[in-house]
Amino acid sequence: MRNKYHIAFPQENVDHLHQNEVYFHYWKEDPDEKVKLRFHDYAEIYKEPGLYEQLFYERLKCTSPAKISTLLKNALSQSQENISELRVLDFGAGNGMMGEELKTHGVSRLVGIDIVPEAKEATLRDRPGLYDNYYICDFENIDNKTNQNIKAWNCNCLVTVAALGFGDIPPKAFINAFNMIDNNGWIAFNIKETFLDTKDNTGFSKIIKELIFSEYLDIYNLERYRHRVSVGGVHLYYYAIVGRKNTNVPGDFFST
Ligand SMILES: C[S@@+](CC[C@H](N)C(=O)[O-])C[C@H]1O[C@@H](n2cnc3c(N)ncnc32)[C@H](O)[C@@H]1O
Repeated sequence: MRNKYHIAFPQENVDHLHQNEVYFHYWKEDPDEKVKLRFHDYAEIYKEPGLYEQLFYERLKCTSPAKISTLLKNALSQSQENISELRVLDFGAGNGMMGEELKTHGVSRLVGIDIVPEAKEATLRDRPGLYDNYYICDFENIDNKTNQNIKAWNCNCLVTVAALGFGDIPPKAFINAFNMIDNNGWIAFNIKETFLDTKDNTGFSKIIKELIFSEYLDIYNLERYRHRVSVGGVHLYYYAIVGRKNTNVPGDFFST
């Protein structure tokens, strides 16, 4: 896609800001019409065709969909399974970057989930037909009907890319999505490296660490890699994690 936007990053060093607080300016032709947005103003970003791709994938060199798809494929081959057999729940699907990557690997079904309606609208606009269905819902408080509809897809793989932590998907919602996947299904996600640090005692980090090293998940691949660069050019490292689900996480998981 040809670059349509001028994107300017702050002059001052903003690497101390949380990832969701970092901002940028963009404009189309007239710099006097520049707009300031934070990285997590997803609704506004998705409204502009190609802006998300230009910002995160071209300027900031995000590699995560390609990395996680490749690790998922490798994990499947350890079990003599084929990616074409996967019915994938893409949780935090955004405008379909991970879905597009998975489709090139030939997955059988793709179901998208996001909490922001503009994510679905952008996907239908820019990648029509990519997902078999795309639901806008809050997995922390999912209603019965949507729950049943999504379960009916019998997904055997959950992917969550660049959507855990930093005020995006909370652990409870992630675990509800995990519990939607068939037993023995595949779980693939990424997380900023600091969340696995033993020194990180935030609730989010603790729950994610407990889940990763629990009996509910068998880890097949865990790799540290460069997710993208920051606006200051610093390399941001994440872990890509691919595993196989054993059983559902019980409701009292959060009180343990
Ligand atoms: C950085 S984008 C990643 C999008 C896509 N996975 C990718 O790799 O390009 C994070 C996405 O997570 C979504 N998100 C945030 N909180 C969510 C929640 N509680 N439930 C579902 N999606 C959520 C956002 O709306 C946004 O589309």
